[in-house]
Amino acid sequence: MNHDLGSIAAALVAEGKGILAADETVPTLTKRFDALGIHSTEQSRRTYREMLFTSTGAAEFISGVIMHDETIRQKSSGGTPFTQVLSSQGILPGIKVDTGAKPLAGSPEETVTEGLDGLRDRLSEYRGMGARFAKWRAVIRIAETLPSAACVSANAHALGRYAALCQEQQLVPIVEPEVLMEGSHTIERCEDVTGVVLHAVFRALFEQRVVLEFMLLKPNMVIAGEDYSRPVPLRDVAGATLRCLRRHVPAAVPGIVFLSGGQNDRVATAHLKAINQLPGPKPWKISFSYGRALQDPALEAWHGRDEELKMGQQALYHRARCNGAASLGTYTD
Ligand code: 13P
Repeated sequence: MNHDLGSIAAALVAEGKGILAADETVPTLTKRFDALGIHSTEQSRRTYREMLFTSTGAAEFISGVIMHDETIRQKSSGGTPFTQVLSSQGILPGIKVDTGAKPLAGSPEETVTEGLDGLRDRLSEYRGMGARFAKWRAVIRIAETLPSAACVSANAHALGRYAALCQEQQLVPIVEPEVLMEGSHTIERCEDVTGVVLHAVFRALFEQRVVLEFMLLKPNMVIAGEDYSRPVPLRDVAGATLRCLRRHVPAAVPGIVFLSGGQNDRVATAHLKAINQLPGPKPWKISFSYGRALQDPALEAWHGRDEELKMGQQALYHRARCNGAASLGTYTD
């Protein structure tokens, strides 16, 4: 059984591959559709996800797809459940299982991610539907006096409880503590906060007896806030990110798959390549689990038009290929 979790974790970070995060909630995907004037309905969201999941050749670079509850229950236009559409191409189906980031009592500018109540039963149902891994996203905001210790510890605790339940239910947990890019903070501040958060998360994973060999970490890269005054060179981002991960992520973890967090798609790829090119010890596979940085060009190309479905698929294929290469340190675009 556990051998299974080890092979799923390994398959998710197989050489030259990464994960497509396509688990936006209905309100989030609706916001992205609205920005392009695409009407968001259950049908249009289904069409969009089918376009992504059937992009010819992308399976060469995509090991797994994270879906939302609505999507895992949907079928392709040909009547095949999406879990099967993916697994027939050798792509592992995954599922987002948190129920969202809600205001934290006592610190309303921060959030704690909810979804532990009833989680065991939901995990069991998703496993039965074909899911092989799961995702839970904690959100940490940097501001002058944030994050609070309460926010870091509440989110870390929830990640630990979630990950332990996933392993009990034979799903590989992707543990995602996201330190947001929002703000004007320096890269040094991001490094400090990311270090504190990762330390708290691994402590909680240890307390909840999570088997590190059977999970993946999905962190932010260490970057300056999006409103920071000057551009930060790629090598500084790569250096700070790798240093922070080396200090805080045990070598037993098989893989680190970054979120893109609002970085431009090409920048997200360039950062991934720069991190993989750095010399020195990298005891984990380092790859991607991008949402926007993989999907944005595809969404833009498709624009809700049936006649552009192929263009959308080509755009996804291109970004997947670039990121697959970046995970090997060889991307040139
Ligand atoms: P982004 O890459 O767009 O940040 O999305 C990744 C993700 O899964 C966020 O939870």
